[in-house]
Amino acid sequence: MEINHSEIFPSICSVSNMGDYEQACEHFNWEDIERHFTWYETGKCNMAYEVIDRHVTEGRGEKVALLYSDPLREETFTFRQLRDRSNQFGNVLRKYGLSKGDRVFIFMPRSPELYICLLGILKIGAVVGPLFEAFMETAVKERLIDSGAVALITTSSLLGRVTRSELPDLKHVFLVGDTVEQQDSVIHYHDEMASASSDLELEWLDRDDGLIMHYTSGSTGKPKGVYHVQNAMIQQYYSAQIVLDLREDDIYWCTADPGWVTGTAYGIFAPWLSGVTNVVRGGRFSPQDWYATIDKYKVTVWYSAPTAYRMLMGAGEEILTNYKLSSLRHVLSVGEPLNPEVVRWGYKVYGQRIHDTWWMTETGAQMICNYPGMPIKPGSMGRPLPGIEATIKDDKGNTLPPYTMGNLAIKVGWPAMMNRIWNNKAKYEEYFRVPGWYISGDSAYMDDEGYFWFQGRVDDVINSSGERIGPFEVESKLLEHPAILEAGVIGKPDVIRGEIIKAFISLREGYEATPELKEEIVRFVKEGLSAHAAPREIEFKEKLPKTRSGKIMRRVLKAWELDLPTGDLSTIDD
Ligand code: PRX
Repeated sequence: MEINHSEIFPSICSVSNMGDYEQACEHFNWEDIERHFTWYETGKCNMAYEVIDRHVTEGRGEKVALLYSDPLREETFTFRQLRDRSNQFGNVLRKYGLSKGDRVFIFMPRSPELYICLLGILKIGAVVGPLFEAFMETAVKERLIDSGAVALITTSSLLGRVTRSELPDLKHVFLVGDTVEQQDSVIHYHDEMASASSDLELEWLDRDDGLIMHYTSGSTGKPKGVYHVQNAMIQQYYSAQIVLDLREDDIYWCTADPGWVTGTAYGIFAPWLSGVTNVVRGGRFSPQDWYATIDKYKVTVWYSAPTAYRMLMGAGEEILTNYKLSSLRHVLSVGEPLNPEVVRWGYKVYGQRIHDTWWMTETGAQMICNYPGMPIKPGSMGRPLPGIEATIKDDKGNTLPPYTMGNLAIKVGWPAMMNRIWNNKAKYEEYFRVPGWYISGDSAYMDDEGYFWFQGRVDDVINSSGERIGPFEVESKLLEHPAILEAGVIGKPDVIRGEIIKAFISLREGYEATPELKEEIVRFVKEGLSAHAAPREIEFKEKLPKTRSGKIMRRVLKAWELDLPTGDLSTIDD
C-alpha cells in the first residue's frame, strides 16, 4: 500500500515561483501535516511506531528498510525485521528496569545493531543519546555525567573509554558484538536478544515527551545537551517531502553519522517516516567506496556535507569513469556553507544541482533550504520552508532591511524546536533573548527576493578597516583557486585595521607552498572578490582542524594564531 504524500501536500509540492511560494506560505498550516499521523486521532504517539511499526501495520512490512554495508559486512533488513528486533531490544531494556524518560546512550560505530538499539530505546519511551565512536574518555564522561545516563550501549573495543567508576548514574552497560573475554559487569546484547520476545507493548507518549539528546560542539564552553521531543516528527516528515523530495521507491543515502543530528533526523527519522529504503554505510570516507555505494544500490537521493563534496572534488573526475551515478536524481548538502564553486562542479560532474539546506542541532529539522522546483542561487542557503518565518535582526532585536548583515533569527513556534538544553536553563534562554524569536548565532543577510545568505557564526565575522567581512565569502573565493583544497579564514587583531584577514590553506597534491603562490592567491582574491577581502596573511597547513561533521574549526585556527587555549576539542576529527 502506498502512502499518498501529494494528498497531504497539495499546495506545497510544487513551489516553482515566487507567487506559489508566497501562496504556500500564506495557506500553510502545521495541522495539515499532523493529519498524516495516527496520533492526530488517538492523541498518543511514539516515533519508533511512526518510522517502523506503522509500515508493517499498513502492509509495507516486506519492503527493504535498511541496506547496510561496511568493508566487512553487508546486510538487508525489511521493516518487519526491524520492528521485531527493536521490539526484542525494548524487552531487554525493560528486563533491566529501564523505562520512560530514562536517558540511554549509544556509543558505537555504525552497524545495524546501532539502529535496532536506537529504535528499541524509543519504543519503551526512553530518551536516546547517540555519541560519536571517536570520542575519547573525557568527552564520553562529560556527556554521560551531564545527561545522567542510566544505561549505555557500546562495543568491547570502546568499553575502555567508559570510566565507570566516575559515572554513579550509569547502572547498565550493554555490549554489542564479540567480546574477547567474559565481562561480569556488562550485559551481552546477543545473549539477551536470543531469548527476548519480539512482542512488545509500546510505550505511548505525548508529543512533548522526550525523544533524543544531541550534544553540540558550541563555539565556546562545554558541550550542550540539546533535548528534542516527539513533536519533531511533524517537521522531519514534512521536510522529507518537500526538501528531500522523497517518493515511494527512492533509495536514499544520508552520509552523516548518527552521533550528529543530521544522522538521526535525516539518517533515520525523515526517511523512515516517509517509508523509503535507507542506505547506511559504515567505515571511513573514501571517494571510491562512496561512488561504489551510489552505483551498487542505485541511490536516488543523496544528502551529504560540503566537506565531503570538496573532498570528492579534490579526488578528481577521473575516478568517476569507473562508476555509474546516473541513478541520482536529487542531491543535498548541510552543515556548513556550500561554496558556489562546489555547486557548479556538482552540476558539471554529477549533472545535479547540489541543494543547500540550513538548520542546526537546536532547530531539530531543516529550516532554510533550496528545494526542488525553486530557482537556486548558488551560495545562498535558500528560503525558509513554508511554515517557517526567518528574518535578520540587529543586537537589539530590530528587524533589518534586505542586504544588511545581522543575526539570523527564527520566529518561535516551529514543531522541531529544541525543548530545552539539558541542565542549563540559562543557556537555553540565551537563544530567546529577543522575545518571540530564536537567535541562531549565525550572521546572514536576506536579499530582496527573500533568499538568505550565510556570512558566518556571529563571532566569526571579521571587521577590517570598518568593513564587515564574512569569512565564508573569502573561503569560497579561495576554493576556486586551482591549488587550494581547503581554506579557513579568521580575523587577526591588527592595530591599524582592527582586524586583518588571515587564511589557513591546505594545498592540493602537486602544489608547492611557495611565496610566489601566496602572492598569486592574494591577487586572485583581490581580483576575484575585492581588495578588502584579500587575506593579508596566509599560512599553509597540511591539514585544517575540522569537526567530525566537517566544519572547519575557525575557533581552533584563532587559538593557534593568538596562542590561546583551544577550548573543547572533543568534536575534532582526528
Ligand atoms: O553555522 C551554521 C552551520 O552549522 C551550524 C549548526 O551546526 P550543527 O548544529 O552541528 O548542524 C546541525 C545540522 C545542520 C549553523 O549554526 N550550518 C549548518 N548548515 C549550514 C550552515 N552554514 C552555512 N550553510 C548551511 N547550509
